[in-house]
Amino acid sequence: MSRRPVNPARRVADGGGMPFVGSSQSKTRSSPLISIGLVVTGAVLLVLYCYSGPGGQSDKHIVSRVEGGASCAFEVQRAMPILKKTYGNSMQKVLHVGPDTCSVVTQLLKEEDTEAWGVEPYELDDADSNCRSLVRKGIVRVADIKFPLPYRPKSFSLVIVSDAVDYLSPKYLNKTIPELARVSTAGVVIFAGYPGQSRAKVAELSKFGRPAKLRSSSWWIRYFVQNKLVENEAASKKFEQASKKRSYKPACQVFHLNSNH
Ligand SMILES: *[C@@H]1O[C@H](CO)[C@@H](O)[C@H](O)[C@H]1NC(C)=O
Repeated sequence: MSRRPVNPARRVADGGGMPFVGSSQSKTRSSPLISIGLVVTGAVLLVLYCYSGPGGQSDKHIVSRVEGGASCAFEVQRAMPILKKTYGNSMQKVLHVGPDTCSVVTQLLKEEDTEAWGVEPYELDDADSNCRSLVRKGIVRVADIKFPLPYRPKSFSLVIVSDAVDYLSPKYLNKTIPELARVSTAGVVIFAGYPGQSRAKVAELSKFGRPAKLRSSSWWIRYFVQNKLVENEAASKKFEQASKKRSYKPACQVFHLNSNH
């Protein structure tokens, strides 16, 4: 479920095929009035299908969020109950890496029995006072994730990264993802954007250094295999089951990797 790219355009096209079947059959009938009636009915059905078809509501929800510049950091926050169900005790010491880490860390700190830290890979130009306080306390650090992370091996139980991987070329992914595995014990969770989602506005490009490269799930899986990064199958399964139970559909791709120790 979490691996399937959202493609609302194709879904509409698939559904749109149905009424046209009806209209072509109508050509074999004798009365032109019936034909016209069928065409009109087909058109009405098509319109109805587009507006109330299965999944139409949730797709529209996602699309409107994406147009507003969706971020997977927001998705990490939405997925928190599912992540807790999946990782249980391994949520004791969590490191979040990615833009908007202050808001993710703030939410994590509200959870019982959870300590949380954050790495903000980009400038914090408009940080609020809460965020500045987290930085002052050393809970959130601003650090370029193209370089080794400023933590000892196995410092955290779980490492969650969102969005940041979409801005890294394979050359830097090769350095950064093993770093995330190095500082964790129970695994790494990657939240990556789906191809086709719109991301940072042009004004923000200088901050991220390059436009987001949203890769397909098959790209990611091939990348993990090539780099001997092993999927945490138990966690993937639990995450999928918990998502299904709560009818949660992630708006980002979610991958679970082992820490490889
Ligand atoms: C990343 O690592 C893989 C596996 O070691 C290697 O095949 C690939 O060429 C590397 N990519 C870059 C851009 O360095």
